[in-house]
Amino acid sequence: MCGIIGYSGPLNAKKILLEGLSQLEYRGYDSAGIAYFDTDSNIRLVKKTGKVANLKEYCSQFKDNAHCGIGHTRWATHGDVTDQNAHPHQAGKVTLIHNGIIENYRALTDSYHLEGTLKSQTDSEVAAWVLDSLYEGNPMEAIRRLLPCLEGSYSFCILFKDHPGELYAVRSVSPLVAAYTRSGALIASDLTALIPYTRRYFVVPEGQIVKLTPYQITLYDKNQVPAQPEYLEVNWNIDSAMKNGFPHFMLKEIYEQPEALRNTILPRMSRGLPDFTDDQIPDSVFETCNKVHVIACGTAMHAGMVARALMEPLLRIPVTVSIASEFRYEEPLIDGDALVIVISQSGETIDTLAAMRLAKSYGSKTLAIVNVKGSTIARESDYTLYTHAGPEIAVASTKAYSVQLAALYLIGCRMAYVRGRYSSQEACDFLSKLLDVIPAMETMIGRKEEEKALVTHLIQHSDAFFIGRGRDYAFSLEGALKLKEISYIHAEAYAAGELKHGTIALITDQSPVIAIATQEHVFSKVISNVREVKARGAFVILLTKQSAVMDESLADFHIRIPDVEDVFTVFPIAVILQLIAYYASLGKNLDVDQPRNLAKSVTVE
Ligand code: F6R
Repeated sequence: MCGIIGYSGPLNAKKILLEGLSQLEYRGYDSAGIAYFDTDSNIRLVKKTGKVANLKEYCSQFKDNAHCGIGHTRWATHGDVTDQNAHPHQAGKVTLIHNGIIENYRALTDSYHLEGTLKSQTDSEVAAWVLDSLYEGNPMEAIRRLLPCLEGSYSFCILFKDHPGELYAVRSVSPLVAAYTRSGALIASDLTALIPYTRRYFVVPEGQIVKLTPYQITLYDKNQVPAQPEYLEVNWNIDSAMKNGFPHFMLKEIYEQPEALRNTILPRMSRGLPDFTDDQIPDSVFETCNKVHVIACGTAMHAGMVARALMEPLLRIPVTVSIASEFRYEEPLIDGDALVIVISQSGETIDTLAAMRLAKSYGSKTLAIVNVKGSTIARESDYTLYTHAGPEIAVASTKAYSVQLAALYLIGCRMAYVRGRYSSQEACDFLSKLLDVIPAMETMIGRKEEEKALVTHLIQHSDAFFIGRGRDYAFSLEGALKLKEISYIHAEAYAAGELKHGTIALITDQSPVIAIATQEHVFSKVISNVREVKARGAFVILLTKQSAVMDESLADFHIRIPDVEDVFTVFPIAVILQLIAYYASLGKNLDVDQPRNLAKSVTVE
């Protein structure tokens, strides 16, 4: 959370910072600010509540030239959304931006006697004052002394008043990537801000300090000795992070799913079987475990629930799914025989990272399914399976979900094969059916007008219900999450059989109920539940397979997906659920890509 950018070089720093902030806005968008050395080497600070566009407009009045500065777009943790609480924060000779949480900020406020000095309510300003009080003219030394004082997570970019043209950065947990490019030295919380300038970058190692000047970028290890950065190459270009003619990133990303699935599956096919040789995941990881534990948050966790429904009956070993923020405070029943699969688009979600570290401390092998190359979870897990979805910019996750599912299905299939639950022919058949979901998704994308039409009813209501059984229930959870996060319609997902135990009391005349009935063995049961809500006046939106036979009068709106096998219906169903949420948000004239209170990449607990 919070977007961070820093620049030192020959070009117009203000322009680079503001453009970078626009690229990073999905990380937080309640206020934004920049600070830079002006022509007289004084630091100018400009910060404003609202979106980056607001800041840009405000900055247009300053005609000064700058070549070194820092910029921040905020997702508030400590303190309201006000100009004062926006970053950068200034304390004496120090100006800094911060992403993360300084947990001991109260103790620091007391021990450094900052009460009365602080101008904002933020933990970040406290860190700025502590740094200033440790500063005696040597930035590296002051930062080095600051780090042991801090508890929590942070990435900082810092300017020192008497060191014009220089920018310092350091991080713990919260991400930072940096690069020296033909345009100068750049650092950011996220690759999307670097990609217009370079494809080669390095991840700032935790606890190491980076110094950026117009001429070079230097990394110092914990002993303050210059260290060699480990450069990585990004495999997508700036076009992937642009809307490219689509009105919203979310719609673009929904459309990108078939391609993303191809990119994730095809390189991992060898002689018709899933193959992880290039990912350096040996079969022994799959052969020896006696249970699988999946850990993730939000949409990624929902992907885990769908995978569980595939893996457990197929492998005949326990497959458990946990919410990362719960798992990390439990005493999980895992050991060296468990395979822990963590799923994270960003690879930075703090709870998922902490849960993974906990699993490692129990001796379990960890396999991470991650989209962002070089992210912390990817680097710390024992094994990593990258999904190749390209950057996901819309806050509501779409393509990341379907590629996570594809990766999990590949794992499930390989595990079944190496454990003797699938013959090689059965594994090949499974994989070829997995590939068949791609045209099924394309079909549903092509029929997006159906969702557009049905939301007319939906958006007139403040509540909606998603029901299904088995896998369809897992899809319902994701459908409800998507709808509430971008349309602000209160949406509940219920196991259809559970309705009668309380929730059905909420069904009144015209209540929207989205019923998912794609699983053969419970189809008639779900249809009975649909009858029950229909009898109480519900407006039923029914999602079934093409060939489903039923009384058409049951549904007020009926969407049929191509006839894929039950385990694969999640892929076309996901497209429908995403489009329902998208058009509902659009129909209510809301900010589809940047819904209120949310931000991409949850790097605070
Ligand atoms: C919902 C959404 C979130 C994320 C969750 C985990 O649309 O995007 O629920 O899925 O915050 O994020 P990652 O996958 O980055 O760990």
